[in-house]
Amino acid sequence: MHQLLSSDGVLASPPLLTTALSLPDCEADAWVVVDSTVHGLAMGGTRLTETVDAPELAALARAMTHKLALVDLPIGGAKAGIRPRSPITDRDRLMRTFGRVSRPLLRGGVYLGCDQGTTPADRDTFFAAAGYDLAEVPGSTQLDVPWEQFYPSMSDITGYGVAVAALSTLEAQRVTAPQRVVVQGFGVVGRAAALHLERAGHRVVAVADVLGTVADPAGLSTEGLIAATSSDGTLDRSQLPSQVRTLGCPDRAWLTVDTDVLVLAAGADAIGPGSVPEVRARVIVEGGNLSCGPVARRLLREAGHTVLPDVVVNAGGAALTGAILTGTAPSGLPAPRLAEWLRGWIADKIRHNCALVTELSGQGSADPVAELLARRAVQP
Ligand SMILES: NC(=O)c1ccc[n+]([C@@H]2O[C@H](COP(=O)([O-])OP(=O)(O)OC[C@H]3O[C@@H](n4cnc5c(N)ncnc54)[C@H](O)[C@@H]3O)[C@@H](O)[C@H]2O)c1
Repeated sequence: MHQLLSSDGVLASPPLLTTALSLPDCEADAWVVVDSTVHGLAMGGTRLTETVDAPELAALARAMTHKLALVDLPIGGAKAGIRPRSPITDRDRLMRTFGRVSRPLLRGGVYLGCDQGTTPADRDTFFAAAGYDLAEVPGSTQLDVPWEQFYPSMSDITGYGVAVAALSTLEAQRVTAPQRVVVQGFGVVGRAAALHLERAGHRVVAVADVLGTVADPAGLSTEGLIAATSSDGTLDRSQLPSQVRTLGCPDRAWLTVDTDVLVLAAGADAIGPGSVPEVRARVIVEGGNLSCGPVARRLLREAGHTVLPDVVVNAGGAALTGAILTGTAPSGLPAPRLAEWLRGWIADKIRHNCALVTELSGQGSADPVAELLARRAVQP
């Protein structure tokens, strides 16, 4: 039976491995947590924040186990974290040191990619310092270009999967008219989700970043917004057209905008139990990790909302890397055809899981994800 979170969000069982790393000459603490392995393999991102700690990583590594199991990939979940003790003065040295120290894990089957606070360039630096090359992982998919070159062409994959989740659910609900969409969080995930939903004919009526919410009931131009957004996901308000309204009450205004679909793509607990009565959207898509807590999720479903949970909808990035590491994606395809294959495969997995979640919710399941995981009988 798969390990699950208990109802209060605490891990019901510990991860397989929690390792504290010493990073000589770097003012930083670091950890690698391996939640589970399959055939000796595990994978997850490397988070760099001022607050990350081992318990947070354990919960994130567990979520990775769940995501990878739900897309039927034979690989376990892991997560790494780096917490600077003072402002970073030499990022390159920090990444190289992290790579050298985590080398036995990386080369021993624990893939560590990028995550909140780390970039593909950071990952390339620590891979180089560790002497790690994904192409050398036994049984992995052979690419016709280096991973470092292929990955950027798929940088929208998590947001793409989030959009696919929303679109397939609307289709299943026989909704054919253009829908209003609000996107909370306009970073890597939120921007890609907004773009794909707009391209599918829907209308993005509000977007929120850390500074607040911008809205236009007639529809925002997603491409225009993206052009006015910095790489950290902050919108430059001075570049917005005059008809775009900037709403007050920075943190929560996105919640009160009339919409059909709400994409949550910022931090955890965007919707807590107390916010449930304010939610206007019929379909809520958890693009961010733990965007709704377990109690809020249950209350939303009881109130008639469709909730598409994080580990089902935001698995795109994990599934992409996992499909390559495990050799699930076919070898020998030219990069554009491999990209097309991966998009199709990821979309199929997400569509299928969303349909099952909706079906189980309709049958009154209190926790559809737990049921899907139990069906797979994944060992920790
Ligand atoms: N990037 C991925 O591939 C990926 C994969 C799986 C899960 N996730 C999760 O998705 C979420 C978003 O990831 P990302 O990579 O897009 O992050 P990001 O750092 O690129 O963007 C975060 C966005 O959220 C906004 N934001 C922060 N606090 C906010 C608040 N209180 N209200 C409204 N907006 C706020 C920021 O301004 C920014 O626009 C995170 O929970 C992340 O862990 C990301």
